[in-house]
Amino acid sequence: MKILMVCLGNICRSPLAEGILQGKARQAGLLWTVDSAGTNGFHVGEHPHPLSIKVAKQHGIDISAQVARRFVQEDFDRFDRIYAMAADVLEEIKNISGTRFDEQKVVLFLNELYSGKDMDVPDPWYGPEQGYHAVFDLIDRTCTVITEKYSIPV
Ligand code: 4NP
Repeated sequence: MKILMVCLGNICRSPLAEGILQGKARQAGLLWTVDSAGTNGFHVGEHPHPLSIKVAKQHGIDISAQVARRFVQEDFDRFDRIYAMAADVLEEIKNISGTRFDEQKVVLFLNELYSGKDMDVPDPWYGPEQGYHAVFDLIDRTCTVITEKYSIPV
C-alpha cells in the first residue's frame, strides 16, 4: 500500500497523519509507504508547524525532518490511496488533477472513522495549542482504523 495524506499547507494536519500512520504500519509489520502533501504551495520547503512537531513528539513520534511539498497530478500514479483531510482539500485535489483525478483512490480521511459523515479534520493553523492536541487525537484514532482495516489479508 502506498498512501498519501493531503491537507492545504502540508505543515499541520497531513504531516501528523504521515508520521502517525508510518508508526502504526511499522508496528504492525506492514511495508507501507506513507507520504504527505499540501494543495497550496504557501509553505513548500518548510518543516511542519512547531506545534505539530511538539504534539507528535509528546507521543513519541518525530516528524521534524518532514519537508512540505505541493500535491501534483502525478501523485495519482504513485499512490494507491489518497486521503483528503477536508472537503476543501478534496476540491483542490480535483482542481489540480483535472482529467487525472481518480475518484476510486481519493477518500475523505475522517470517513474511515465516521463512515459516511463527510467530516473535516479541523484546521488547527489559526488556533492555539489545544487544537493541535485535538487534531492529533482524531488523526491517531483514524490511523488505527486504517491500519486494522487494510492489514487484514484478503
Ligand atoms: P494544514 O494547515 O493544511 O493543516 O497544513 C494550514 C497551514 C497553512 C495554511 C493553511 C492551512 N496557509 O494558508 O498558509
